[in-house]
Amino acid sequence: MGSIADSPSGTGQPSADSVWLFGYGSLLWKTEFPYQRREQAFITGWARRFWQGSADHRGTPERPGRVVTLVPVPDGGPCWGAAFEIPAADRERVFRQLDIREQGGYERIEVGLHLDGGTIPGICYIATQDNPNFLGPDSLDNICRQIRSASGPSGKNLDYVLELQRALAKLGGAADQHVEEIYRRLVAPSQSA
Ligand code: BEZ
Repeated sequence: MGSIADSPSGTGQPSADSVWLFGYGSLLWKTEFPYQRREQAFITGWARRFWQGSADHRGTPERPGRVVTLVPVPDGGPCWGAAFEIPAADRERVFRQLDIREQGGYERIEVGLHLDGGTIPGICYIATQDNPNFLGPDSLDNICRQIRSASGPSGKNLDYVLELQRALAKLGGAADQHVEEIYRRLVAPSQSA
């Protein structure tokens, strides 16, 4: 993991008025916004779960897919992802565009980002349990069945899982049991009985 001690401000602190955004889902491979630094990072107290329905990206209103959100887990261990430092000059436009991209139930919250050089304030998107697309928990079999059969304007729901697993593997040491179990059932169903 890199260090923030060599950040442009030279202080290990965020550059003036820049903002750090934590990505734990599609932002890991479909970033689509300008950033000046990317660092491996984790947050605590939250767990990544395939509990959000996707009727606009990886599914349709008739056949929604499942994508990840964060759910609160008191005393929860690290949830790994990437922290992106967005320059001050871009922050308004970036968040406007992300708010549109993630309008299917996600909202921004403030989180503490654990980077190699320390903990800094950041922002991430979560789908709250009261949003109309929230699906919540289900058996892994049902979750995988839904993912296998869903596809939307952004592509197959299955490809979302493959991309997420690949992105987490690239981070190195960022294992996520929930994602791995779903990935394993989808790519090698006969070994998952
Ligand atoms: C993310 O990759 O952090 C993300 C996940 C869901 C909605 C928006 C962003």
